[in-house]
Amino acid sequence: MKLSQELLNNLIEITSNSAIACFPFIGKNEKILADKAATDVMRDQLNKLNIKGRVVIGEGELDEAPMLYIGEELGTGIGPELDIAVDPVEGTNFVAKNLPGSMSVLAVAEKGNLINAPETYMDKIATGNHIPKGSIDIDYSVKKNIKIYSEITKKKASEITVCILNRPRHKKIIDELQKLNVNIKFITDGDIYGALLVSNKKYNVDIFMGIGGGPEGVIAATALDALNCNFQGRFLFKTQEDIKRAKEMGIKDLNKKYEINEIVKGESIFCATGITSSDLMKGVIKENKKYITESIITHNKSDIKLVKKVISLT
Ligand code: FBP
Repeated sequence: MKLSQELLNNLIEITSNSAIACFPFIGKNEKILADKAATDVMRDQLNKLNIKGRVVIGEGELDEAPMLYIGEELGTGIGPELDIAVDPVEGTNFVAKNLPGSMSVLAVAEKGNLINAPETYMDKIATGNHIPKGSIDIDYSVKKNIKIYSEITKKKASEITVCILNRPRHKKIIDELQKLNVNIKFITDGDIYGALLVSNKKYNVDIFMGIGGGPEGVIAATALDALNCNFQGRFLFKTQEDIKRAKEMGIKDLNKKYEINEIVKGESIFCATGITSSDLMKGVIKENKKYITESIITHNKSDIKLVKKVISLT
């Protein structure tokens, strides 16, 4: 294994500390300030690691700094060469409004193993590891995917739950799901969380689908890859600027459907710390001068498969 246990521990501390940095902003209706606090800590701590890292999935481009931007180099420059995907606050609205489901997230892979893409939307579909690879497809109609899922799992449509972001752009999908009598788990934000719900039957989500952020898609794919789940994504480039950037980043076919192993290859780690609580993990707790955080971690080349880790920091 090239990605060490020490690196993994460092990443947990980093997402924990960026989650803690957000803590004072929970319920303060200041999502930009919350994002900045988490980003500053994440950048500062990543820069102290003995790695030669580069942000391949981040928050915009250089001119949109101070967010962790695509192309930004991180680390001391000594150590393993890594591709890094960052989302210091996934669910900024949740932090601002003190709602469940926000988290601080990082994914890393060996250099050249995470897809490089501009910050844009992505159409996504995900299912758990009980569904054979290649059965459900983003290019099939909603009806066909539900039928296939139903045949494989022997569940009636009325026993299937689809998780989707509640957005006007999903009206057609939502109408179709309703027509089919499928249960819908609407999420208002946070589609990394939504996608991860397919990873375990206890969350009662069968399929995740719909359009959300591309960075969130890539990061979710890293965790789902380690868990042997299924994920497909297609970037949606709307503006000429997006198209230009995508081409510069080496994306030739703008309409390409990406399989999970084209989004993330080789060895990778996903690490997320709860800021506010969700089904996946608890949010930051302050006890006297200490903070307790809960994180979930996956490492596709080890036994670390959605392992929960609680740490206490001062
Ligand atoms: P932020 O935390 O950056 O605000 O993103 C939250 C989020 O809900 C993502 O999880 C999701 O992929 C994206 O926004 C959806 O974008 P939009 O709100 O434009 O539909």
